[in-house]
Amino acid sequence: MLEVIVERFAREGYQLHPDAARILCEEQIEDGQITNILNSIDDSTLVITPKDISSFCERFEQRGTGLFNPLMDTSNLRIVTEGGEGFVRRFCDRYEKLSRILQGRLNVRSIKGLERIKKQNVGKIGIVGMVSEINKTQNGHTILDLEDMTGRFPVLLLKDKLNENIILDEVIGVQGSLTKEGELLVAEKILFPDVPSNFRPNHAQEESFAVLISDIHLGNLTFIDKAWEKFISWMRGELGGPREVKASRKVRYLVIAGDVVDGIGVYPNQEEELVVTDLMEQYRMVAESLARIPEHIKIIIAPGNHDAVRQADPQPQLPERIQRLFKDHKNTAFVSNPAIVELDGVSVMIYHGQSFDDLIMAIPGLSYDHPDEVMIEMLKRRHLSPIYGGKVPIVPAVIDSGVIERVPDILHCGHTHTVGVGRYRGVTVINAGTWQGQTEYQKKLNITPVPGCAALVNLKSLDVNMLKFR
Ligand SMILES: [Fe+2]
Repeated sequence: MLEVIVERFAREGYQLHPDAARILCEEQIEDGQITNILNSIDDSTLVITPKDISSFCERFEQRGTGLFNPLMDTSNLRIVTEGGEGFVRRFCDRYEKLSRILQGRLNVRSIKGLERIKKQNVGKIGIVGMVSEINKTQNGHTILDLEDMTGRFPVLLLKDKLNENIILDEVIGVQGSLTKEGELLVAEKILFPDVPSNFRPNHAQEESFAVLISDIHLGNLTFIDKAWEKFISWMRGELGGPREVKASRKVRYLVIAGDVVDGIGVYPNQEEELVVTDLMEQYRMVAESLARIPEHIKIIIAPGNHDAVRQADPQPQLPERIQRLFKDHKNTAFVSNPAIVELDGVSVMIYHGQSFDDLIMAIPGLSYDHPDEVMIEMLKRRHLSPIYGGKVPIVPAVIDSGVIERVPDILHCGHTHTVGVGRYRGVTVINAGTWQGQTEYQKKLNITPVPGCAALVNLKSLDVNMLKFR
């Protein structure tokens, strides 16, 4: 274990002080947590000391003890702005992480390095690559161009044999046979990185509840004040019969997956739909209502595409000047988008969900009415936002924050303004809709929002109850 940790840091250009190495070894640190440490280290650091990792170790000590624990925050991700290097590194990181999963699942002779395929004898082989092109033949078959760090190779999917929905820029494994000339791989099986079939989610040891919401959009004239007020009253234990009040008393966490306010200048002519035209005032009003929630409930806030942070993925935490507005609820934490938090031992991956727009367009059968099905596609691909060049701008960073490296117990998204709850291979997926009615923009797209819902999650049983405040 010690050697693996030291080698991992060395690969990234850092030496590890022996005391720091010992602490990390004792903590049984996981790969994803090492990535978080590396992202937080200043470039000028040569030797990583115990002081450099102290905040991470404190967090590790809290694991499983019934406390909130931020497992992944991408706010301080190292960004490379020189030329295209950052984008290249980001995609290499995606390929490396996902191909590591896939290589282990190929059950035929695996060829590592696409440029080496042509030198192989004819026979069954398995390869892993990122999908760089998808074309249809005249006969309706599909030709994929797979790419890795060494080169590209074409793969044929016969229409009557394979009908998997493949999308651009995802990393897949292919098993099949080479043609006689060795210039084309005829696919027999497609493998997705996917959630392992033996995945078992964590459960809280004692009964406690988390409430998951998103897309409040305060400031827009379609914001449903009445529903929101009811929700706040319920969180205060003041609404509903004995059962509802009893449930609200067990709530320990409120997680908000972005679009806390409607923002300003997010889309053309937005000012015509705003009732609060000052951005800080929008946040001040949300903060004021959240401050009425009892302080034993931890509030966790991630940003979305309407919030006052950069649009490119990953989005950092809300800036300091906005965080200060929430100071009256002393138990409020801010995280990035995406982020992973641990609540009473249950990991929750929070992603606002701009990629829904691209995935719904790219995969037949998906729709805004069933956001849970879109989230399952993310899990299959082990990526929150696989398609590049669509609706999701990205930053040129050294790691790809969209990779679902560690399978979460719960995936919590928003953005679609529609409600969906599902379970896939043990992972619970939740989208709790919005707090605003239908906008003009949604009318044009024929999207019917589902406002005034909050997902009440029992962290012990992982049962989800969608509460309605209308
Ligand atoms: Fe939204």
